[in-house]
Order: sequence, then C-alpha cells, then structure tokens
Amino acid sequence: MAELVVRELTPTFGAEITGLAPSIPLDDETLRRLRELFDEKSLLVFRDFHIDRAFQYYLSYALIGKEPPAQDPTNNPKRESLISNKEKGAIAPFGRLLWHSDMMWCEDACELLSLYGLDVGQPAPPTLFVSAAQAWKTLPADLRARVEGRIAEHVHDISYERSGGDTDVLTAKFDDDDCTRLPVARRHPRTGQTLLYVCQQMTSAIADMPKAESDELLEALFQHLYDPQNVFEHAWRKNDLVIWDNLALQHARPNVQVEGPSRTLRKTFAPMPDSLKTRLPQFANAGAV
Ligand SMILES: [Fe+2]
Repeated sequence: MAELVVRELTPTFGAEITGLAPSIPLDDETLRRLRELFDEKSLLVFRDFHIDRAFQYYLSYALIGKEPPAQDPTNNPKRESLISNKEKGAIAPFGRLLWHSDMMWCEDACELLSLYGLDVGQPAPPTLFVSAAQAWKTLPADLRARVEGRIAEHVHDISYERSGGDTDVLTAKFDDDDCTRLPVARRHPRTGQTLLYVCQQMTSAIADMPKAESDELLEALFQHLYDPQNVFEHAWRKNDLVIWDNLALQHARPNVQVEGPSRTLRKTFAPMPDSLKTRLPQFANAGAV
C-alpha cells in the first residue's frame, strides 16, 4: 500500500495528497483509502503529479467504484475535453464562470469531475469550490423551513440573467432546451449526504412558487452557499490533478482571457452523461448576448 500523506485544505472539505505512485490498477488497500478520502473530503488535489490521460480516466472511475467504459468518449483529438484559452475547439475558452455543478440539468448525474494541468502559465486564474453538503448542514432554520420538500428547476444556463451586468460572464448555449426538476434538498446517491442542490448558473426557479418569491429565495440560498468564508481557491500549476465530487461541491472561476497566461486543463467526467457525448454548447460572453 502507498504511504499517503494527507493535508486538509479547509476545515470542512478538500485534501492534498502526496505519496501516490500512479499505476493501473492501484492496489486494493490504496484504492480503499483513496475512496474513503474522496467520500469524506469531496476534493482531492495531487500536485506535481506526472500522469497520462489513461490514469486520469482510470482514477476518475475508480474513486466512485465504477467500471470505466472500455472506450473513453473524449479520447480522440476531435472530442478531447480540454478547458483552454489557447487550444482550438476547447470548452469554456474565456470568461468568468458562475457557480455550478456540471450538468445539473441532466437526470443522469455526473458524479465526478477532474482537471489536470497540461499547460499552465502564471498567474493562471484559479478554480473556486464550495460545499453544497456543508451548505445544507449549516442552512439557517428559517431558510431550511422554506425549502424543505421543495423542488428546483434546472436549465442549461441562466448566467445572463444572473451576471449582475458583468459582461465577462460566460454563457453556454445548447441547441435544445433540456431541463430537469430535482429536490432542493437532494440526497447524494453514493454518500447519502443531503446537499443544498441549487446553483447560480443553472437553477432557474423553485417550482410552484411565484417568480418574485422564488427569485428572492434563490438569492438568499446563494448568499449562504457562496459566502466567501466557505470558498476554497485552487491556484493552478502545471501537473496539478484536481478531482472532485460534482454533486457535493460546486465550482466557479474568475475571468479567463484569451490573451492571458496559458490555462489548458484536461477534463474527465465520470460517468459522462449521454447528452454530452455528441455535442458541445456555443460559448459567448454575457456582453455579447
Ligand atoms: Fe463546470
């Protein structure tokens, strides 16, 4: 078994791990310890970690105890999932991203996301994280009473409405309008934690509530979720692997500029929802909408 050294990143979530030697497969005991850490901490960071796409893909599925599909759908140059301000055809090539969990609008949830620093100039804009599990645990009683038993409606992207006039905010436009309805207090399918499952980028409304009341309630929930005291900021370096629970945590980023330092991050989804395998949205700044 690998001698893993664990350093807590915040009092409530996140751990930096050293001592892992990447190999496929990992031995059972190391894998058991990593899964335990992932379920407990929701966010694992490995720095100066020299891995290839195959290990990133393997670890993404191994941490949630699922067999990876034999064929990685992004393992071809045309569909490779890169977050980049330099690479052609990359995801989210510029702009500020509001808080979200990827694909909240999907029924078939994506449980885990990872990013690996392929080309990172300095200072590269960070990725920000908050815990939806912690937000539910600490939700004030009055807000909890207002959302208990309620359903939230999620759409692809409502960033423009939520941009607050910030024209750097990135919006993503899909060619259809998927949406889904899920409990505001959502049970995590693997850990059983209760999550405050609404987000700034995709939650359009609390169902069966007048719009003004729904808007006001969502704003109060966002104030609580995104309290700056609860935010962890990952400052990118080349060869960082950051791997997180896409349901238990939400992520965001400040503005990324095409002419800024290189920021090319290789992304994995586990599992990758079917609805993302064949298409990508069009990206635009809120200022251009
Ligand atoms: Fe995202």
